[in-house]
Amino acid sequence: MTAAKLEKPSLEHKKSYIEALREFQEEGRYTFLDIHDVENNFEDFIEKVNNGKKHLHKPYADWVEPVPETVLWLVKDNEFIGTLNIRHRLNWHLEKWGGHLNFIVRPSMRGKGFGKKLLQKAMPYISSLGIDRALITLDPADKSANKIVQFCGAKLEDTLPATDKFPARNRYWLDCT
Ligand SMILES: CC(C)(COP(=O)(O)OP(=O)(O)OC[C@H]1O[C@@H](n2cnc3c(N)ncnc32)[C@H](O)[C@@H]1OP(=O)(O)O)[C@@H](O)C(=O)NCCC(=O)NCCS
Repeated sequence: MTAAKLEKPSLEHKKSYIEALREFQEEGRYTFLDIHDVENNFEDFIEKVNNGKKHLHKPYADWVEPVPETVLWLVKDNEFIGTLNIRHRLNWHLEKWGGHLNFIVRPSMRGKGFGKKLLQKAMPYISSLGIDRALITLDPADKSANKIVQFCGAKLEDTLPATDKFPARNRYWLDCT
């Protein structure tokens, strides 16, 4: 048994990542990725994720400026557990709905404390990118995600109501200094 750690996405975790991607897609996430394409061209996929990746604001990619993004994977016992996305800066869309951070745990691994671990381990990486205060925006109804950010010390700034285009969001600031 090894401790969970955050690391750069790598070829080593192909099998568990593909299995996790299947689970994510079953719940309607990452449907913009063609799983067969990712599996057959995994080396290219990893290279793109690690090199100069931009946050594409799917499904708003056509009208929101992309920003640079760092992607890290939470790995335990050599298996992919979850993903952390750190956007290096905010734009008008991230300021309200997207935030600096996105974190996600593989569905079959949820409820085991990995979400909490992931955000705790994220702090030094966020601050190493020069982000002292990270904005996190969450669905107010998502109990586990709200619990995690509050546990990590994030402070609620406000709650944006849903609009015809965007969902309601709790906006938190997390001190990463
Ligand atoms: C949010 C998410 C990352 C949580 O991951 P996780 O590994 O299940 O989280 P944890 O196991 O660390 O649980 C965190 C807390 O939420 C609690 N929790 C879990 N499910 C819950 C539920 N349905 N209702 C209330 N609390 C819940 C846990 O008990 C735990 O609290 P505790 O430590 O006080 O017991 C995961 O559900 C996920 O990937 N969701 C989809 C993506 C997402 O919404 N990301 C967040 C926005 S960026």
